[in-house]
Amino acid sequence: MSVRGLTKAFGDNEVLRGIDLDVGRGEVVCVIGPSGSGKSTLLRCVNLLEEPSGGTVRVGDAELTDPEVDIDRVRRRIGMVFQQFNLFPHVDVTGNLTLPQRRVLGRGKAESLAVARRNLERVGLSDKANAFPAQLSGGQQQRVAIARALVMDPEVMLFDEPTSALDPELVGDVLAVMRRLASEGMTMMVVTHEMGFAREVADRVVFMDGGVIVEEGPAAQVVGAPRHERTRTFLTRLLNPTACEEPGEDRSGKE
Ligand SMILES: Nc1ncnc2c1ncn2[C@@H]1O[C@H](COP(=O)(O)OP(=O)(O)O)[C@@H](O)[C@H]1O
Ligand SMILES: [Mg+2]
Repeated sequence: MSVRGLTKAFGDNEVLRGIDLDVGRGEVVCVIGPSGSGKSTLLRCVNLLEEPSGGTVRVGDAELTDPEVDIDRVRRRIGMVFQQFNLFPHVDVTGNLTLPQRRVLGRGKAESLAVARRNLERVGLSDKANAFPAQLSGGQQQRVAIARALVMDPEVMLFDEPTSALDPELVGDVLAVMRRLASEGMTMMVVTHEMGFAREVADRVVFMDGGVIVEEGPAAQVVGAPRHERTRTFLTRLLNPTACEEPGEDRSGKE
């Protein structure tokens, strides 16, 4: 996957100011950065949930940003997992995994059921095939949401803070599923603040601030020895959330 010169403005708010990013086949890239830096907008532009203001996005041999392209067809190449799981509440887990295959891919009943079972096993939830979303924990719902993306056979999986809405004790199971996907060779772009996961699983970490990529590199470098002050400040705050601000950093007073 390759992103070139990607820009996005909402009115006069320039949220993405020229993003260049490659994610190679089988590569896992974690995106970190402060709230409001444009991480979600980047993912949403990559799968065209938002229309970019400029630049190009390519997945495989398809240019998603080509105005001639069949957008529904190319969008299927990209799976997306959100912070809020967005399952269909009124159908069971099997329905959540089979309906999109039947509607979007036109698969028959038997095939969609077989694919659903296979992917439910992949996320460790074979025993929940007939449960309704409300009967599952947040972590289980998120694993179903991952399986629901996988049944569409995506070439790339995008994750937008997939564990941020979960109780802490449920985070590990979701990360374990993502770790397994990575080891199976899935191409992944993951917005996350789970630094342990980033260090262990990511081939590269990208730090975004103010709509640009400030620095990128191996996790050990970006997280372990960041080059830029903005990256250092972000990581310090992330790792010490209750620490007091330095007096000099207080911008609430008069100039
Ligand atoms: N649909 C939208 N309409 C207007 N502004 C938006 C929209 N989506 C995001 N923004 C703005 O874009 C900026 C970046 O948001 P976002 O991409 O969600 O950042 P992050 O995910 O890094 O927290 C914010 O200022 C936000 O208000
Ligand atoms: Mg976000």
